[in-house]
Amino acid sequence: MSVVDDIRDKLDIVEVISGYVPLRKAGRNFKARCPFHTEKTPSFTVSPERQTWRCFGACATGGDIFNFVMRKDNVEFGEALRRLAELAGVEVSTRPKEQVDLEESLFRVNQEAARFYNEMLMSPEGRAALKYLNDRGIDAKAIEEFQLGYSPKGRDRLRTHLATLDANLGHATQAGLLRSDDEGNVRDFFFGRLMVPILDRRSRVAGFGGRSLDGSNPKYINTPATPIFDKQATLYALDKAASAIREQETAVIVEGYMDVIAAHQNGRKNVVASMGTALTERQVYLVRSLTKTVVLALDADAAGQEATLRSLEASWRAMERRRFGQRQEVALRIAVLPEGSDPDDIIRESVDRWDEIVKSAVPYMDFVIPAMARRHDLSTPQGKGRAAEGLMPIILSMGNAFEQDRYFGQLADTLEVTRDQLQASIGKLRPAARERRPAGPQPGAPPSSTTVSPLASGDRDPLEEFVLKALLHWPELLDVVEDHTPEEFRRTENRELFTQLLAAGTIDELQRRLDESLAEHFTRLTESDIKPTTRQSAPRAIQDALGRLKQRHLRDRQAEILESLDIEPGAELPKDIEDSIASVNDELKEGFLVGAREKPRR
Ligand code: CTP
Ligand code: MN
Repeated sequence: MSVVDDIRDKLDIVEVISGYVPLRKAGRNFKARCPFHTEKTPSFTVSPERQTWRCFGACATGGDIFNFVMRKDNVEFGEALRRLAELAGVEVSTRPKEQVDLEESLFRVNQEAARFYNEMLMSPEGRAALKYLNDRGIDAKAIEEFQLGYSPKGRDRLRTHLATLDANLGHATQAGLLRSDDEGNVRDFFFGRLMVPILDRRSRVAGFGGRSLDGSNPKYINTPATPIFDKQATLYALDKAASAIREQETAVIVEGYMDVIAAHQNGRKNVVASMGTALTERQVYLVRSLTKTVVLALDADAAGQEATLRSLEASWRAMERRRFGQRQEVALRIAVLPEGSDPDDIIRESVDRWDEIVKSAVPYMDFVIPAMARRHDLSTPQGKGRAAEGLMPIILSMGNAFEQDRYFGQLADTLEVTRDQLQASIGKLRPAARERRPAGPQPGAPPSSTTVSPLASGDRDPLEEFVLKALLHWPELLDVVEDHTPEEFRRTENRELFTQLLAAGTIDELQRRLDESLAEHFTRLTESDIKPTTRQSAPRAIQDALGRLKQRHLRDRQAEILESLDIEPGAELPKDIEDSIASVNDELKEGFLVGAREKPRR
């Protein structure tokens, strides 16, 4: 039995959810006001029989205990699994124990260092650093919230402190707090700097940024890569910002630590920092699971730079990739800051001004078309060509046809060419990889034994696994899953794997982001055989299987609606329920239609 099943067996969804919201018995189900949106009449239903929950109101989503905890606690699957495992008393040990122990030890020594630095900040030695913070308007509450500190001068102060605590100095070195100098003496890595602890998503101290206080260079020194710290895969203050990002449905990404601190101190808590580097795909991924809108605050002077444009393109791709599978599209917007000022300055001067800047952020394309046009000499055909070359792939890969058309027109206008000319000039550009649906009979559809899935509620679900196996085998076929959502997968592991696969887009990336608890499942799926499906027949076969999953999902929902009312099929229904069933029915019909339309022509 998988850990997931083990946990599910041991926990009752009614009990788990009762820990968060008071449930009231209503027929065979339980009801509550939905914990995910504000409502007056309870439309949130928990079914003890199915061990599922569903909001029939504005959210219109549902799931099991794992999805519930992910949403409610704002955590990734792996973390939800661990929390529930703890509740269930189930051991989750997929990582070698030594590694887990090492990481825990590194976090511990970092936490102690943060505590020490903070104590130093408040001591006479830290007076200048504290004054510096005060002069910058950072108040005591912010200092505490962000656990700011000061690393004293002298190169062995932290080491000595840790030694008196009998801490493992080897681990302190591995955490990047100490390092050996040329003579082999172990020295403090940070000294005489303002210390900014960098917390991970679970609020553990993963690393530090240290700011110089005397104008010396470099301005910041950061913890190098360690087993628990990777700057590229971290957004500063994401742990503190996560719930505000969810609530406000917007994440604002700034560059610096100080910008974040100023924003939070002034009540703008949906702000995180990329820590100077161009936004990485992994950073985008981190926020993308929280919101559909990301505003990137960009320096005026950086705005025109080639490197900025390139990194923006990468960010956009990360936002855009595999947006199907998620109900809401993800939008990257750009807010350009006034020349020469960073968010920190603006916020201190006027929070309203900051709000305005964020509000006036423009969609990525509206920013990037003029920016690209500025980069090239548009008075020459060559310049026009280069500008088009940079932008057309992006436009062509857009999922929304109206949007695509709009930007196509906008680009033509900007380049001062006709649509036809633009069209002709890009004849050579290949449209974004979108599988042509092969016509004609398709051999090798998923084995018919998977049509009805007797195992679906048991340990395995062959239909779901078929889809995953095929996609893992031919990840270039990911585009065929358009219009399908992870919710259509019944089994949590499969649902999560599917979600992550869509988000990752490549197997490499998937492996990087996949929670360790799913590693075994992943390996089993990748290693198993998918005969008789062939590369050629795969797109159809996957679509078929997904179509069936969708129908099954819609039927489940229908049944859930009836159950939530305790109404026998055929009885008279309240109007709103009737509507909601009708909409499911419509979707079902459409599902059949799509299926029919795609049936091989004979
Ligand atoms: N940064 C860095 N190393 C540097 C300079 C900058 O890692 N030598 C990163 C830091 O994460 C910093 C961010 O880039 O927070 C943005 O840089 P900057 O705007 O210069 O720093 P601020 O955080 O705004 O700091 P301050 O306002 O104190 O200058
Ligand atoms: Mn600054």
